[in-house]
Amino acid sequence: MSDDRSASARWRELLEGRAIPPEIREAAPGSPYRHEPRRFAAPEQPPDTPSRRAGLALLGEGGTVLDVGCGAGAAALALLPTATHLTGTDHAEDMLAAFGAECDRRGVPHRTVHGAWPETAGEIGKADAVVCHHVGYNTAELAPFVAALDAAASRGVVVEMTAEHPTAWLDPLWERFHGLQRAPAATYHDALAVLHESGLDPQVQHWDRPPRDDTRAQAELACRRLCLAPDRVDEVAAAIAELPPRPGGMMTLSWSR
Ligand SMILES: C[S@@+](CC[C@H](N)C(=O)[O-])C[C@H]1O[C@@H](n2cnc3c(N)ncnc32)[C@H](O)[C@@H]1O
Repeated sequence: MSDDRSASARWRELLEGRAIPPEIREAAPGSPYRHEPRRFAAPEQPPDTPSRRAGLALLGEGGTVLDVGCGAGAAALALLPTATHLTGTDHAEDMLAAFGAECDRRGVPHRTVHGAWPETAGEIGKADAVVCHHVGYNTAELAPFVAALDAAASRGVVVEMTAEHPTAWLDPLWERFHGLQRAPAATYHDALAVLHESGLDPQVQHWDRPPRDDTRAQAELACRRLCLAPDRVDEVAAAIAELPPRPGGMMTLSWSR
């Protein structure tokens, strides 16, 4: 059967189809969506990844960087010392504060802009390279989001995302703990279709990243994402141990202007 929805509409439906049912969300002990700044801390020595290489290629001898959904700044800070100035923007104040504090600690010229992209784009203006890591699957309206990334870049854009929705691996646990069958998860193919529909033709690189969390941290995070009380973490850890290994597939989508 043919699918005549636009890629943007399909993306939106895929993301909205995975909203947590209100009765489960309301009974949750805390926000299932919360991100911990320390989990996203930038390593002192950034790993040599396709995203970092793509960012450095855009910068050449040097240039300014805008990091959208910067979190604690891992994407932008990985481009030092070639990057001469970093702007971080995020709608989470604690994340943005972590980015600012790390730039201060390293003595990096920087600016922070609090707010939601693309609404903040006008205030921020342009940078030589725009980087945006692990924000795409949070973004139902992906077309205006990526169009604004493109418009903000003088030289080019680097988007990093997991190959499939970062919570897809938890779907069997939603069934086990809540009896809930999850709607299909979006993948980078769906995101790429939106980029193509927006007239963008990125270079696509597929690579693997080792897991960010140890087993305990993974179980604690899963507990929160599943809207379960923290005292169920051992049960969740045991259930995770029965799952196939969590996929580490990572995508770098990059383009020059
Ligand atoms: C998964 S974290 C990734 C952080 C960082 N880019 C990294 O890779 O380490 C996603 C970040 O994007 C931010 N975010 C999500 N949607 C956003 C939006 N529309 N505008 C600004 N920030 C956003 C969140 O607050 C969070 O800090």
